Amino acid sequence: MLVSGKEILNKAHKYGYAVGAFNINNLEMLIAIFESANETSSPIIVQASEGAVKYAGADMLYSMTKTLSNRYPHIPVALHLDHGTTVESCINVIKAGFTSVMIDASHHSFEENIAMTREVVEIAHKSGIGVEAELGRLMGIEDNIVVSDRDAVLVNVEEAREFVKLTDVDYLAPAIGTSHGAFKFKGEPKLDFNRLQEVKKATNIPLVLHGASAIPENVRIAFEKTGGDLKGSKGVPFNFLTEAIKGGINKVNTDTDLRIAFMAEVRKVVNEQKSEFDLRKFFSPAIKSVKTLLKERMQLLGSAGKI
Ligand code: G3H
Ligand code: 13P
Ligand code: ZN
Repeated sequence: MLVSGKEILNKAHKYGYAVGAFNINNLEMLIAIFESANETSSPIIVQASEGAVKYAGADMLYSMTKTLSNRYPHIPVALHLDHGTTVESCINVIKAGFTSVMIDASHHSFEENIAMTREVVEIAHKSGIGVEAELGRLMGIEDNIVVSDRDAVLVNVEEAREFVKLTDVDYLAPAIGTSHGAFKFKGEPKLDFNRLQEVKKATNIPLVLHGASAIPENVRIAFEKTGGDLKGSKGVPFNFLTEAIKGGINKVNTDTDLRIAFMAEVRKVVNEQKSEFDLRKFFSPAIKSVKTLLKERMQLLGSAGKI
């Protein structure tokens, strides 16, 4: 059933587990997510970036998600806008039926971030829609970064406390050292777990980890075997994801892993079946591979069995 992001994440916050927020751009990814949720009895958050909204349309993303949620009525699902950059962008998807939005004003001043988030909260809360905001910047922590530089990019605990109080935001993404994409860390992976725990204590709301793809070895190898290049790629290690959930993360944003798993299979068919042009022959193995990854991830995050 399509529900508010608040409902899914408040429960995860209360019981100390995380729910995967998986990015979609097309029907195939959505099918993989729903079938995996069904097979693991997991609540899910389906999310679309502004790029995805531009590509498919908010109405289309909503209809596809609504149709699948009717097919699997026992699965709690929230449809979320990922990294909304303007108030208008949030209003656009709310009108289309999304049940959760992120207003990402983290690159603006603290005051402007508060003002924009408050505006979205006021609109969204009228219809019970959950709102996410972000503090700090998504950047990897390098080994030799000095503490003052680290403070400049990562979340500030006192700001987080004040921000939540002033905005009434429902969930918060604190920057603790992750970044988007396949190249997250230059040296050894490093996240600021102490800071995360302090933000959790100071805010006591569901927290979100962006840039949470792990780039699992088998998925990277499958992609590279087909001639793909992911040299130097590095994701968030599985034990870091577990540690982050212990530290208070309840929403784990994952896009890159799904893309790589999907495209490795598409590439394989392209390479091996030169005269194939039936789309389903490319996408069916891709869905299967993404499902394997998703089901493992739902177990790791602790959302499996939480329906
Ligand atoms: O936050 C980033 C997500 O991976 C979405 O990326 O803007 O390419 O759709 P995108
Ligand atoms: P990844 O690039 O690590 O999958 O992160 C996705 C994300 O944070 C979407 O908001
Ligand atoms: Zn993100």
